[in-house]
Amino acid sequence: LFMGILFKMNPKEKALADYLNIQFCRIVLGDSDLDATVLDEMGKEASKGLNMLLPAGDYIVAVAGGNTMARAAAHFSPELSGNRKFVFVPTRGGLGESMSIQANSVSDLMAQSVGGENMALFVPDNLSEQAYATMKSEPSIKHTLEVMKKANCLLYSIGNAKVMMDRRKMSPEEIAFLNEKNAVGEAFGCYFNENGEIVYRLSRFGLQIEEIDKIPYEMAIAGGQSKAKAIKAFMKLAPHQTWLITDMGAANLILKGI
Ligand code: G3H
Repeated sequence: LFMGILFKMNPKEKALADYLNIQFCRIVLGDSDLDATVLDEMGKEASKGLNMLLPAGDYIVAVAGGNTMARAAAHFSPELSGNRKFVFVPTRGGLGESMSIQANSVSDLMAQSVGGENMALFVPDNLSEQAYATMKSEPSIKHTLEVMKKANCLLYSIGNAKVMMDRRKMSPEEIAFLNEKNAVGEAFGCYFNENGEIVYRLSRFGLQIEEIDKIPYEMAIAGGQSKAKAIKAFMKLAPHQTWLITDMGAANLILKGI
């Protein structure tokens, strides 16, 4: 109740936060599936939200990739660095998708928007176990991974499983497996079902889903009807301190109990 008053949620936002059992929700008008400018509004609200959420101090911000994050990052305000110092670090290495939406690119963009340092993680995300073991002891990579493990703030989006299977160019066998397991969403390299159970994990560098519980400040930015099920399911995995910035497209469907 105290948080609700402090951070001024409207009744619908409060209902959504309660339904998802998380600390705070902001719902912007529109549906980002139908109108990409809704992502810009979500970015602005995410920046305002962080300004309310984060006390003055030093932050290591782990930043995930994707279209939502890339578009939102451009709207993060330099006001944020007024009484705070930021180091941004990507949550993962590179994937076979567009450069502009890689976690590396988003964290760099955020560092430019807000003002702060950026650390890159220039390794492919889906390495073999053997290559992974070698790479993670490389000094520069090891250093970035160590900084990432110390993150006290996390910013990420949540993907629709089918969209992500296609973007990640998963094999027909993997797609058949994920469909059989009823995967509805993806985040942090994990596909999960409607109950928030992880059904498949990609071999990967970077922040693991189990590590997000202990991060004190975290914000998911995800909207659009196509992500409603994924958002609802992921909030079962996400810790209570989560803040969600979403849109009416997703919020209305979630509140209808999809
Ligand atoms: O990892 C990807 C994100 O979870 C979702 O990406 O913002 O492009 O939908 P998106």
